[in-house]
Amino acid sequence: MIRELYRKLQFPDLGDERGKLVVAEGEIDIPFPIKRVFYIYGSDDSVVRGQHANRNSEFVLINVAGSSKVMITDGENREIVTLSRPMEGLYIPKMVWKEMYDFSPDSVLLVLASTHYDGSEYLRDYDEYREMMKREMESFE
Ligand code: TYD
Repeated sequence: MIRELYRKLQFPDLGDERGKLVVAEGEIDIPFPIKRVFYIYGSDDSVVRGQHANRNSEFVLINVAGSSKVMITDGENREIVTLSRPMEGLYIPKMVWKEMYDFSPDSVLLVLASTHYDGSEYLRDYDEYREMMKREMESFE
């Protein structure tokens, strides 16, 4: 495998008798400086989101409420990760294809990104993406 597909992150849980408090600091708990935050909610188990790879952006996904699943692939290797814990993050590097699905009704999926939004860095055609990755892997052989 040329590149890491994903990494699971554990954030410090500073909960006490008053409730929970989870901290994720850029460049400490999150492996990049955080430039952007967005969150996905109101999706359900009939929806598939994502379905793209990003040339330049790295992400950390956190289900701060509810649960969802994430399928991650580099065109050859394929993994499925369930997110259901607010103190757990999923780091996704650049150029990895991702699909988020199976959202619980109460799912709030928080996404931290290493870049400002730029629609032109998205690869949205899976066959094209796979071909690109195949060529890259062949050039390493
Ligand atoms: P989209 O990439 O389809 O969301 P997902 O990958 O989660 O399924 O984005 C939906 C819309 O929101 C699309 O028109 C682009 C826009 N958008 C922004 O303007 N800024 C952002 O940071 C993101 C993630 C999306």
